[in-house]
This record gives sequence, structure tokens and C-alpha cells, in this order.
Amino acid sequence: MNTTSTAHYTVIEMEILRIDGVKKYYTKKGLSGSGPRVIRALDGVSLSVENGEIYSVVGETGSGKSTLGRIVVGLISPTAGSVRVNGTDIFTSGRKELKKLRSSVQVIFQDPYSSLNPRFNVRQIIEEPLKLNKIPFTREDILDSLRSVGLIPPEDFLPRYPHELSGGQRQRVAIARSVVMKPMFIVADEPVSMLDASMRASFLDLIASLRKERGISMMLISHDISTSYYASDRTGVLYLGKLVEEGPTDRVVENPLHPYTKALIQAIPSLGKVSEKKVDIKGAIRSATGEGTGCQFRDRCVFAIEKCGVEEPELREVEKGHSVACHLY
Ligand SMILES: Nc1ncnc2c1ncn2[C@@H]1O[C@H](COP(=O)(O)OP(=O)(O)OP(=O)(O)O)[C@@H](O)[C@H]1O
Ligand code: SF4
Ligand SMILES: [Mg+2]
Repeated sequence: MNTTSTAHYTVIEMEILRIDGVKKYYTKKGLSGSGPRVIRALDGVSLSVENGEIYSVVGETGSGKSTLGRIVVGLISPTAGSVRVNGTDIFTSGRKELKKLRSSVQVIFQDPYSSLNPRFNVRQIIEEPLKLNKIPFTREDILDSLRSVGLIPPEDFLPRYPHELSGGQRQRVAIARSVVMKPMFIVADEPVSMLDASMRASFLDLIASLRKERGISMMLISHDISTSYYASDRTGVLYLGKLVEEGPTDRVVENPLHPYTKALIQAIPSLGKVSEKKVDIKGAIRSATGEGTGCQFRDRCVFAIEKCGVEEPELREVEKGHSVACHLY
């Protein structure tokens, strides 16, 4: 058993995160005359993240990535299934334990401009979560968090307001605000999608160094599988609320199995060369209503066979640690 101590918690599990059979259904009023519509944002997702690992969740818009991230950090509760962080179920534990646990799981959103309070300067922004959680801190803790995200010299940034920072610097402040809590786990939801290419690369390097130097595990959410390839150890591909492929990132990108993963990779010119397998998909992603039987990808898949319309493929391991949900395997 791996045991490491930090200021606010003790990491005791090899698995920092375990998600089992998580579903999130939303019921929406139908058009006049029709009954209510159920949107299956997540439809039975199970995965785990190891201590110190960076796990990417990739998929098109509407595939359920943010819903998964929000459930993991306890912002919304699942319709079914469980989420364990460091061995503790975050939806059934006692309030005191939960509060402590939730402060050690942090979230970074896509748009640092709207997630940073424009009336607070950087010092106030970083102090805020510590004060809210009644965690004692020193000025050096604040400076250290800024240094750890490459905002140097940190003293220069303390009095600045969000509008006085570049997009990349704002995203670094958002991370510093998470890092100061000494988290064991960070969920980063599209953290680089609003940054330009050069800032994106240096931001992903920052994520790697936080893992190396502080042992922070991460769920990195992205619609862009090249971000996953650059920054993560393992990747899970979501399609309409289900994992359709999962494995070590280099295997998923260099030897994609699911037709959907192949199409995602092919859409990115720099990765098209990594994976030579060409495949087209038809149409656009539809809403996750779970209608019909069989594979949810069948209406877009050029390889669909008769079985695909009647039987839902299960996620199956086809090489070590690499699983796919497709009748072709
Ligand atoms: N509060 C809600 N009420 C109803 N439907 C919702 C709600 N939140 C999300 N959904 C639906 O759930 C599905 C998954 O949404 P989610 O935001 O998780 O997707 P995503 O993969 O993060 O997409 P994007 O890449 O656009 O951020 C979508 O069909 C969305 O419309
Ligand atoms: S199960 Fe069938 S429809 Fe689904 S991805 Fe595989 S081949 Fe295509
Ligand atoms: Mg999203």
C-alpha cells in the first residue's frame, strides 16, 4: 500500500479515483404532444485513475465529459453509480469527511476569465479557497503556489487583477488557486482550449511538472485528442455518455481500435501521421437519448454490421490495459 502525507490529508490508496457504473440522466419536457425526453448524459461509466496518473477523457461536444468532471468533484450528483476518491464515496460519506475530501479535489474550468472574480486581485483570488475552508496559511504559501505555476517573480502578480493578466497567466492563476489547497486530484475541464498554440504547449508542460513535483493526479478533459496524446498516461474516449475505448494513451492514439477514435485522430492533421488508419464517420453527434437498440455509434459508422443494430457492444480488453466496445473485436 502506498502512503504519502501532505498538509490536509493522507493518500492511502493506489487508486486515487474510482468511478463505478455512473449514470446521469436529465428529463426534459418533450415537444407538444410528446412525452418527456430523457437525456442520458452519462450512461454507465466505470473507470479508475491511479495515484500520480494523468487520465484524459476525450470526445466530441455533448459526449458527457463535463458532466463526468462535475460529478467527480461533487458539483452534481449521479443518477446512479458511485464515485470514490482515495477510497471514500463522495456522495454517501459524512459531511465532515466529505468537506475535507472535497477541498483536496480541485477543478479548473475552460475559461479562466469567467472563473476568476474580476473584483479580486491575485492575492485575494488565491487566499479565497483557503479562507472558505478555514485552512491556516502564510504569505509564503501564496507565493509558493504562484511560483509552482511559473508566475515569477510571484510578488509582482499579487496586486494584479484578472484584466491585467494575459489568458495564459489567468489560467495559471486558476491553477495556483487549486495548487494552494494541496490537492491530491485536479479535474481540468478543457484547460487549454482558449489558449493559443504556444501557451497550450507550455501549459501542458506545467501540468506534467505539477504531477512530477507535487504528485498531483489529474483528470484532463478535452475534445482534442492531441492534448491527451501530449499530456496523459491513459485515455478514455466517451461517446454519448459511454466509454467506447480506453487504454494507455500511446496505444489509443497509435493503434486506435474503435471507428470513432480513429475518426477523432484522423481529424487532427498532426496525429493523422501517427495513426495511418483512415476512417470516415457520417453525420454529427446527436443528443444522448439512448434511443434504439445496439451500438449508439451505428448511424455514423461505416463498418456497421447487422449485429450492431441489435446488440450493444460491451467494453472488452483486447490487449493489455486497452479496451474497446465494438463488435469488430
Ligand atoms: N443541466 C442539464 N440539463 C439537461 N441536459 C444537460 C444538462 N447538462 C448537460 N446536459 C446534456 O448532457 C449531454 C452532455 O453534456 P456535457 O456538458 O457533459 O458534454 P461535453 O462533452 O462536456 O460537451 P462540450 O465539449 O460541448 O463541453 C449533452 O447532451 C447536454 O446537452
Ligand atoms: S459496434 Fe458496429 S456500429 Fe458500433 S462502432 Fe463497432 S462496427 Fe461500428
Ligand atoms: Mg464540456
